[in-house]
Amino acid sequence: MEQTVLVAYGSANGSTQKIAETIAEVLRTTGITAEALSARSVTDLDRYEAVVVGGALYAGRWHKDARRFVRRHRGALAHRPVWFFSSGPLDSTASQRDILPVPGVKRAMAKLDARAHVTFGGCLTEGAQGRIARMILRNGKGGDFRDFAAIENWAAGVARELGAMSHR
Ligand SMILES: Cc1cc2nc3c(=O)[nH]c(=O)nc-3n(C[C@H](O)[C@H](O)[C@H](O)COP(=O)(O)O)c2cc1C
Repeated sequence: MEQTVLVAYGSANGSTQKIAETIAEVLRTTGITAEALSARSVTDLDRYEAVVVGGALYAGRWHKDARRFVRRHRGALAHRPVWFFSSGPLDSTASQRDILPVPGVKRAMAKLDARAHVTFGGCLTEGAQGRIARMILRNGKGGDFRDFAAIENWAAGVARELGAMSHR
């Protein structure tokens, strides 16, 4: 069965976008049609059989585009297999252990019966927008903590689950 999967992301500085694009690329290598799109730009989910939603973490919440996406499309999401990811920690903790979803994401997972959630390390580098971002950078606490091997591995797991569903 031909499947089209949406990877919708909420990202302020582009690093979660890159994670979403990597996930879509991995899905495509397995023969699944996958599109990574800004959560803000998606008007309906009619064309998609399954959805991955990812949000950058800002002050303990997903980026607003990801939050609004889940709210706006909750009816359609409830009828599709859904996976969630978050991206945030500016240290290596996400590569060392599972980081649980923040409370708002946990609630959305329960409402939508989401299949899984993972937290990936975040990224904050020169040029990031915002006063606090600049402060973090000035204090030498920025950096790129995205673990692309872990991202690819997780995406391969999503592809396997999708493959198993289409053969049922
Ligand atoms: C103002 C601000 C608040 C942040 N709050 C959190 C947070 O609550 N939890 C977390 O894990 N990371 C937090 N981060 C780190 C971001 O989630 C990380 O930089 C992420 O990769 C940004 O994604 P984006 O480039 O897609 O916007 C914060 C960063 C900034 C600048």
